Amino acid sequence: MTILVTGANGQLGNEMRLLAKDSLNRYIFTDVCDAHPESIEMLHKLLADSIDVTTTKLDITDIKAIRTMVKEQGVKVIINCAAWTNVDGAEDPNKYELVELLNAKAPENLAVAMKEVGGLLVHISTDYVFGGDSYNTPCKEEQKGTPTGVYGLTKLHGEQNIHKSGVDYIIFRTAWLYSEFGKNFVKTMLNLTATKPQLKVVFDQVGTPTYAYDLARVIFDIIEQRKYVGNTGIYHYSNEGVSSWYDFTKQIAEYAGHTDCDIQPCHSEEFPSPVKRPAYSVLDKTKAKHVFGIHVPYWTDSLKNCISNLV
Ligand SMILES: NC(=O)c1ccc[n+]([C@@H]2O[C@H](COP(=O)([O-])OP(=O)(O)OC[C@H]3O[C@@H](n4cnc5c(N)ncnc54)[C@H](OP(=O)(O)O)[C@@H]3O)[C@@H](O)[C@H]2O)c1
Repeated sequence: MTILVTGANGQLGNEMRLLAKDSLNRYIFTDVCDAHPESIEMLHKLLADSIDVTTTKLDITDIKAIRTMVKEQGVKVIINCAAWTNVDGAEDPNKYELVELLNAKAPENLAVAMKEVGGLLVHISTDYVFGGDSYNTPCKEEQKGTPTGVYGLTKLHGEQNIHKSGVDYIIFRTAWLYSEFGKNFVKTMLNLTATKPQLKVVFDQVGTPTYAYDLARVIFDIIEQRKYVGNTGIYHYSNEGVSSWYDFTKQIAEYAGHTDCDIQPCHSEEFPSPVKRPAYSVLDKTKAKHVFGIHVPYWTDSLKNCISNLV
């Protein structure tokens, strides 16, 4: 079976490269640019030199290019790891069309192309499709989407477009993703806690940090073991547990041995942002655990693994 991965040079896409190495299926890794040299170095460090770090160019806003690649390569599954992921940047009114194109229209393109060949689309969405209604229990899949910003709204449109297309799909909503690759909160805080004597981090937003490798592992197993058959639909996946950004930072510093930085909690108002993020953003993973029989690692255990790869 041929499986096409989009956004292969991002956090989740690179984790998929690590897993695909030992598969008997054929994976094609695509993105708009070549892989970043730092990511290539990390891939080699984690999995020796034999790993495939090539990137085939594919812009997912271009439906003709998608159709051509799907037909020429005999693609049966697309894993869409590409997206506009800059949550604050999405609030720039000049960027709205581009964010909607990438997060809503492009997933529809992929869905249409897969529908035409009777294939499967695996797509990633976000906890930020929720947040407008205040709640304090973990969100279930069927809960109504109430995004608070453009990123969440366009990701919700992407989900709706995929559903309307009639394709077979699995959508995973995830949250607070980090990895060894690209820019993310863990890498930023590793740097800041190593270089700053003092740091303030918000404690009034809680969610679940999620190691992109763990999500990639779940997607990989579902595809390799054909667990998607009869189980298409929307699922939630994050690591286990709940944390504020402040607790997350404390744990990062502890695992990295950055003991000299004084980390203090603060309120969100101290860091003005163009978008209001939900105060409580926890996903209920019961459905994914039940249907796919997965074990979900606790967030601090996964963080420890990622940091040991990074430092
Ligand atoms: N990051 C999080 O905290 C988070 C939380 C919840 C859900 N998610 C979702 O999880 C998924 C994976 O996120 P991630 O953090 O791994 O993303 P990421 O690191 O930002 O990677 C996205 C990749 O998509 C590429 N891309 C941009 N425009 C494209 C286009 N037109 N065609 C093809 N590729 C394009 C990007 O290239 P450039 O870098 O060159 O633009 C980048 O390599 C996304 O759907 C995201 O919405 C992420």
